[in-house]
Amino acid sequence: MTTDTTIPAGTAAGSGAGPEIRPPAEVRHAGELATLAAWDAERGHERPPGWRLSPRAVRAFVVGSEELGVSRKFYGDDPLVDRAVVSLMGRQGLMLVGEPGTAKSMLSELLSAAVSGSSTLTVQGTAGTTEDHVRYSWNYALLVSEGPSERSLVPSPVCTGMREGRVVRFEEITRCAPEIQDTLVSILSEKQLMVPELGPDARVAARPGFTVIATANLKDRGVHEMSAALKRRFSFETVAPVRDRDFEIELVQRQLEAELGPRGDSPEVPREVLEVLVTVFQDLRTGSTREGAPVKRPETVMSTAEAVNVAVAASLEARYLGDGTVTTAEVARQIAGVALKGEEEDARRLRHYVDNVVRERARHDAGWKAFFGAAESLWR
Ligand SMILES: Nc1ncnc2c1ncn2[C@@H]1O[C@H](COP(=O)(O)OP(=O)(O)OP(=O)(O)O)[C@@H](O)[C@H]1O
Ligand SMILES: [Mg+2]
Repeated sequence: MTTDTTIPAGTAAGSGAGPEIRPPAEVRHAGELATLAAWDAERGHERPPGWRLSPRAVRAFVVGSEELGVSRKFYGDDPLVDRAVVSLMGRQGLMLVGEPGTAKSMLSELLSAAVSGSSTLTVQGTAGTTEDHVRYSWNYALLVSEGPSERSLVPSPVCTGMREGRVVRFEEITRCAPEIQDTLVSILSEKQLMVPELGPDARVAARPGFTVIATANLKDRGVHEMSAALKRRFSFETVAPVRDRDFEIELVQRQLEAELGPRGDSPEVPREVLEVLVTVFQDLRTGSTREGAPVKRPETVMSTAEAVNVAVAASLEARYLGDGTVTTAEVARQIAGVALKGEEEDARRLRHYVDNVVRERARHDAGWKAFFGAAESLWR
């Protein structure tokens, strides 16, 4: 097993054909991080111990700064970002909770890239996560030949983060069994990890800059409760879906450019098409149209992330199967598959929405008319 630290930043283990589909944030935004570091140096901004950037620069990295030419990456709740940055300076970890697709993982990646210069010390929580994934394990060949030693110890991302004073990400923490989650309790309160196999006093001590950003989705099925002890070790922030329509349109647009950029000349999705897409998502997400008419809400989470997926799929359909123009018809066709996941009941709810709300809008708007036509023919 290779540990993160043996791989130079920007390269992945087992490099194969072609570029990485999605390099980590510190690689994608290396230029911006350098600009912010230079800004800190020029202005003499104070950096907390172990941080690569000042809290001001970390904030600017996430919410953007026109003056510095740094793009906005997280939309909708700047005070939340401020509180998150402050939490990272404190003794507790940061727990980002919220509905699926609200950019919890994105925020944790951006924050760790800005604070520590790397976002790759990550534990991906699953039902199969064991204590070894959180603490350390052994290289068994070395363990057998030379016994427990520094060399035969395989540190977990948490262990490496403690030693090197870096931010560790713990994704989907509530998917892990409670006793595994609780491994973090003593690590976070004592800031050390005992390694009894190496001797009675052997331990890994955390250096300044070490902290944990955990994310948890409280809505999906199959999540575990968090213990009260664990909760006390974290400060919680709830990330909410974007409510403002124009904001969400801009967000989908930017994410779409970022997604399709590497694919060359994929067709742009016109603003009117995005307006229809985002309106459908907001209507179905909130259970009410902007005019106040009630809508049956699907079980599926109609998150911004799903809206981006639909826009990407519509653009690819237009490029590879259509004439290169993205219309609301592609959007209507993609919503069913990308967003509704084949749920019968949800399909009925969407159909109800199309029959009532979309039909009415189609009377005096060409975009809605094309959407209606395509959606209707899906059920015929
Ligand atoms: N407020 C927002 N600002 C910027 N991007 C957003 C926002 N909300 C959603 N997104 C988009 O959603 C995508 C998915 O977000 P992410 O995977 O981080 O969500 P999540 O909350 O971790 O979801 P899950 O609970 O399913 O893991 C982001 O990459 C981004 O495109
Ligand atoms: Mg996530």
